[in-house]
Amino acid sequence: MFTRNARMGAACLFLALVPLGAFAQTKAVRYGFGAPATPGELSKFFSIPPDGRGLPPGSGTAAKGAQVYAQSCTACHGDQLQGNPQKGIGGDRLIGGRGTLATKTPIKTVESYWPFATTLFDYIKRAMPFSAPGSLSDDDVYSVVAYILSQAKIIQPTDTMNATTLARVAMPNRDGFEPDPRPEVQLYR
Ligand code: HEC
Repeated sequence: MFTRNARMGAACLFLALVPLGAFAQTKAVRYGFGAPATPGELSKFFSIPPDGRGLPPGSGTAAKGAQVYAQSCTACHGDQLQGNPQKGIGGDRLIGGRGTLATKTPIKTVESYWPFATTLFDYIKRAMPFSAPGSLSDDDVYSVVAYILSQAKIIQPTDTMNATTLARVAMPNRDGFEPDPRPEVQLYR
């Protein structure tokens, strides 16, 4: 009877015997359908690193963000940003819990846990509202980010959030993480 290792060894031996050329596809094959991706389509693929590189033009304030929040977020995250565990699809609590992470009753929120404010733009633009991701304009995202940060008392209620100011916001838990030693992470520093 083969052991698991012996079977895996046999599989590796087989792969080693297949000539490498069998996998080499040198000539591009054209099938005559499809179209080059448009700039609009490509713009849906983005990633905003901690320093905010790639944040789009536009801006927003907490006052406008309160309206965006009331219309698109309250149902799942609660009118006080307290979260909504009752509903099946209810969203997380977004603010509060600062300083509780190392206690016996940690409360994990944007305010208490997230190290970078720029992640808020990235995440909300990409994934929220949960029921219609990608539906908010850049100004609406900046505004609702300003609203959440201002309700968490991380920025002033009158502060404008844009590509420059958002990247400068210092989150309360920014020093609460161990440095990541993987070399590729440095590409985003
Ligand atoms: C239909 C319900 C729903 C709506 C509407 C909704 N969310 Fe969410 N939200 C969720 C759920 C569910 C999660 C958790 C998703 C996960 O963990 O994958 C979440 C997660 C989040 C998080 C991450 C929280 C964390 O600590 O990880 C943020 C920030 C957030 N939502 C912001 C918003 C904003 C801003 C809006 C309005 C523009 C919004 N959400 C609208 C359901 C919703």
